[in-house]
Amino acid sequence: MSNPPAPLSTWAQNVSPSPTIAVDTKAKALAAAGEDVCGFGAGEPDFDTPEHIKDACIAALRAGKTKYAPTPGIEPLRQAIVDRYAAEYGLKATTSQVIVSPGGKFNCYLGVIATCSPGDEVIVPAPYWVSYPEMVKLAGAVPKFVLADDRTGFRLTPQMVESAITPRTKLLILNSPSNPTGAVYTRAELEAIVAVALKHNLYILSDEMYEHLVYDGVKPTCVATLSKEAEVRTITVAGFSKTYAMTGWRIGTTLAPAPIAKAISELQSQMSSNVSTFAQYGALAALTEKEKTAAALKTMLAAFDRRRKYLHAELNKIPGITCQLAQGAFYLFPNITSFGLKDQDFCARLLEQEKVAAVPGSAFGAEGYLRLSYATSDEIIAKGVGRLAKFCAGLKR
Ligand SMILES: Cc1ncc(COP(=O)(O)O)c(C=O)c1O
Repeated sequence: MSNPPAPLSTWAQNVSPSPTIAVDTKAKALAAAGEDVCGFGAGEPDFDTPEHIKDACIAALRAGKTKYAPTPGIEPLRQAIVDRYAAEYGLKATTSQVIVSPGGKFNCYLGVIATCSPGDEVIVPAPYWVSYPEMVKLAGAVPKFVLADDRTGFRLTPQMVESAITPRTKLLILNSPSNPTGAVYTRAELEAIVAVALKHNLYILSDEMYEHLVYDGVKPTCVATLSKEAEVRTITVAGFSKTYAMTGWRIGTTLAPAPIAKAISELQSQMSSNVSTFAQYGALAALTEKEKTAAALKTMLAAFDRRRKYLHAELNKIPGITCQLAQGAFYLFPNITSFGLKDQDFCARLLEQEKVAAVPGSAFGAEGYLRLSYATSDEIIAKGVGRLAKFCAGLKR
């Protein structure tokens, strides 16, 4: 008899599968089996990609844009990205600072591996997006979690950051608006936190994936614009997935100082090469056909805002639940600690008894909460929150 195959690598053995994808997959499987599931798990808009973006991609495909393209992206798209940072934030950059990657997730990962060596420490604010700790570990670096719960509106204070810094700290991850909480930092709050990072000469990975999904007149802050010192240390990640309902297209962007951008592009050249060439032409249309894109975004934002307010009001009517009104992204992060159940058990029972899919806060490093995505229809939200109320009424407090 032959020997069993050798064990897989430590990377393969230590990586945790994405819990948000797991919840979504389970909910979709239940729905496929005929169950009437209310899914609050998915982190993707329920809208389709706007037509003019699809049309531009189809035209590119028909025009033979089917070959390899430059690793960091087609030049017109990189220029359009430079132009939009100038128009939206007054940030002056050149195309040599822009890398288009296969999804914002990969942009984040490249940002981590471009800056961190094995043993370096990375400050990861919790609640965190599920992929940050895994990316840091895959770089051989060490995530240092700093928890900001609902008592500080899920936002770190400069003191919290300062107390987590050691001589090994290399990178600070920021994510405003946040997945999973929807929290948005003010410019002044970010200035104070970035001042701490600059004092210790840290790099900053600012994940601004949800920058355009903000409500109540809130303005997003582009961390790289806070100061010249911040700009030369900040890797800004953004993308098309959430803003333009393009999750399946897999297109994210990095804007970084030229030396870092060069390193990231070289890493990408060995790992994935360019994003699908014709898909990049769709992304280009999202940025250049401004009126059509603005109209589509306005419709999506109005729907998200309406659902956000409704879900927030309904959640706070449920005895035992308290929920802050987040000002960004498409998530609410209610506190369920009064029920005295572990959040994973709460979610498992909620799915089993009421067919409502939610992600436990512990998946994001914050036990005692739920992440509810309102990027789903008004009908599902109304039905789902009704079932959640019924479920909570049956729990002891
Ligand atoms: C905070 C945050 N950053 C980055 C991403 C990556 O987006 P994508 O890879 O779909 O472009 C996501 C997606 O869920 C996210 O929530």
